[in-house]
Amino acid sequence: MMTKKVGLVIGGNRGIGYALVQALAQHWGNRGLVYLTARRETDAEEAQRALEAVTGLAVARLRFDLSDPEDPVRTSRALAERHGGLDIVVQNGAYLPRAGRPARDDARPMTEANSHGTLRVLRAFLPAMREGGQMVIVASGMGTLRNLPEHLHPLFDTRTKGPDAINEAIDGYVAAVEDGTAAAQGWPEWVNLPSKIGQVAVTRSFARSVRPDVPAGLRINAACPGVTLTDATKDYMGTVFKEEDAQTPDQAAAGLMKLLTMAPDVPQPYGELVRHGQVIPFGDDQP
Ligand SMILES: NC(=O)c1ccc[n+]([C@@H]2O[C@H](COP(=O)([O-])OP(=O)(O)OC[C@H]3O[C@@H](n4cnc5c(N)ncnc54)[C@H](OP(=O)(O)O)[C@@H]3O)[C@@H](O)[C@H]2O)c1
Repeated sequence: MMTKKVGLVIGGNRGIGYALVQALAQHWGNRGLVYLTARRETDAEEAQRALEAVTGLAVARLRFDLSDPEDPVRTSRALAERHGGLDIVVQNGAYLPRAGRPARDDARPMTEANSHGTLRVLRAFLPAMREGGQMVIVASGMGTLRNLPEHLHPLFDTRTKGPDAINEAIDGYVAAVEDGTAAAQGWPEWVNLPSKIGQVAVTRSFARSVRPDVPAGLRINAACPGVTLTDATKDYMGTVFKEEDAQTPDQAAAGLMKLLTMAPDVPQPYGELVRHGQVIPFGDDQP
């Protein structure tokens, strides 16, 4: 009997994550089962009900919070026990900074979820991954060294910095925001930029550090969904983003599916930032 595929989409109750759960469930049909997560049980239940109605397939749900240090290990163990392993883990959840709110209020909770939470997810779920599986961290094309002044690049150089050192650099950014020295140190004003740079760097560095030991064919990458109209971007349309450039969540999910459906015997991309199947250079791979 063929083993059923098992997938998990963290932050799957709305926006791009919701569309991705739908796309993945439809791609697998009865050959797989996709879990979606939300921070609140009622939100997870509502999304599950809606997705089951749309797809006509069983969709599973879990409550999960990236800011809770216990959730990744607890969830990974429970799913490994229930199913024997996982084929796809997508960490799509992200703290939502509000347009106009000062970085001082957002920097700590945002990096706690997006950088520290992402590393906890990678560490906790790797032992549960099956051969030929995929771990994808949905980050952003904004998370590259192009968006940092050159003197800060060494902090995020994944050739020399391990994932914990990268999170320490992110904690240094948070401390600078909180004591009012971030601008003088050269950090960008918009909290989303250091947060996404940290998230991509942590993913890239983690992927490099575990590569010799991962199950055969397992790929770990960060992904950019492309500009998409969701709760996260609606307040930035007309300023940071142009509405006419924005995709629907379904279009963004289709781009992520290109990465998730790549044949497992193709070793690349690995440890990269990928948008619609194409690698975006992070900026630390120059000699
Ligand atoms: N939209 C874009 O144009 C765009 C562009 C580039 C990158 N991205 C990235 O794509 C991903 C999805 O974005 P989106 O636009 O779909 O955002 P969204 O509509 O705001 O959805 C965010 C998702 O993250 C979950 N979440 C928030 N805080 C969480 C936490 N602490 N723990 C676990 N889950 C949490 C939310 O669940 P709750 O309902 O429980 O809050 C929700 O499911 C994010 O990483 C975002 O940065 C988006």
